[in-house]
Amino acid sequence: MSKLFAPITFRGLTLKNRVMVAPMCQYSARHGVANDWHLVHLGRFALGGFGLVIVEATGVSAEGRISYDCLGLWDDAQIAPLKRITDFLRANGAASGIQLAHAGRKASSPIPWRGSFTETEAEKAELAFESWTPVAPSAERHTASYAMPMALDHEGMARVREDWVAATRRAEAAGFDMIELHSAHGYLLNQFLSPIANKRNDEYGGSLENRMRFPLSVARAVREAWPDHKPAFARISVTDWIDGGMTVEDSIAYAAALKAIGYDLIHCSSSGFDGAKIPVGPLYQVPLASAVRKGASVPTAAVGLITKASDAEAILERGEADMIALARQALDDPNWPLHAMRELEVADSYAAWPKQAGYAVRNKDRALGLTR
Ligand SMILES: Cc1cc2nc3c(=O)[nH]c(=O)nc-3n(C[C@H](O)[C@H](O)[C@H](O)COP(=O)(O)O)c2cc1C
Repeated sequence: MSKLFAPITFRGLTLKNRVMVAPMCQYSARHGVANDWHLVHLGRFALGGFGLVIVEATGVSAEGRISYDCLGLWDDAQIAPLKRITDFLRANGAASGIQLAHAGRKASSPIPWRGSFTETEAEKAELAFESWTPVAPSAERHTASYAMPMALDHEGMARVREDWVAATRRAEAAGFDMIELHSAHGYLLNQFLSPIANKRNDEYGGSLENRMRFPLSVARAVREAWPDHKPAFARISVTDWIDGGMTVEDSIAYAAALKAIGYDLIHCSSSGFDGAKIPVGPLYQVPLASAVRKGASVPTAAVGLITKASDAEAILERGEADMIALARQALDDPNWPLHAMRELEVADSYAAWPKQAGYAVRNKDRALGLTR
């Protein structure tokens, strides 16, 4: 019996399996509004058998977007196109999640495949180009190539928190089953948490308790605005991989506090600040998910260069995590769960395909002598 393909329940949501698509920015929206690209990009993962599909980092405000072409939920007009996506995912057997995000000092970034702001005037008009001054815990830029941010005062922090709450309500209106609080990768909440970016000397800077104060106040406000029967996940960078940055022990304390507020799963990523020494390799972040799971007694998701079905199964078997998240491997093979079911010999994997495809794939495999 495969653990990977056993259902799992978080509050009122039962996922058909434990494989989820990690959020992935598409840099393909205009004015924060989802379009056909997002529907097809995300929809194919439902057809491919993922139990949960998480929509990319979605700005709670225009200033909180990573780039001008990231999705947003700061305006009611952004709800309906996302509703179309959640409806499609549900109709095709996948639950829907959305990662709510504020990029802080890493907002207004260039599109990664461009590398810098290379847009011509004509492209700027077509792509709805914008650039703006970001906000952050402290007036310290991410790197020399990023804009100098404005430090948030208490009023600004309250405004950001309200933006988060309003976006949470819009996510509910858009029909999402789950929300994920983006508290990782050197974005705003992570900037408050980490001494690398947080140089404040008020009650929001200094000790770990102080640095957690603003992220936890946002987390609490979001959880209160989100229906009780729906789960909330939080994505964290378990370590900055930098001397003097957030450590695994700090993150265990943060995860425990999130759990106490009502977060149902901690999605364990890492890093986000310049100068990190990351030991990249297969399964490199799994020990982080395992440490948080044990240390904070909270369900976790493991992510990061998980590509093989046997590894995914073994991570769950060993009790290192409760969910498996795939990002680039999902892009490489949107049918990964269906293929993994076949590899792990889950009973009648063909029945898990969309009816329009399953019988035909079975016939193909029979013709090749791969199945009876
Ligand atoms: C194209 C792309 C976009 C990404 N966008 C996001 C994002 O919106 N939010 C986030 O938390 N992580 C984002 N990530 C990180 C992934 O969710 C994931 O943590 C990382 O790629 C490691 O997993 P993988 O080895 O399975 O790709 C992105 C990664 C990629 C490749």
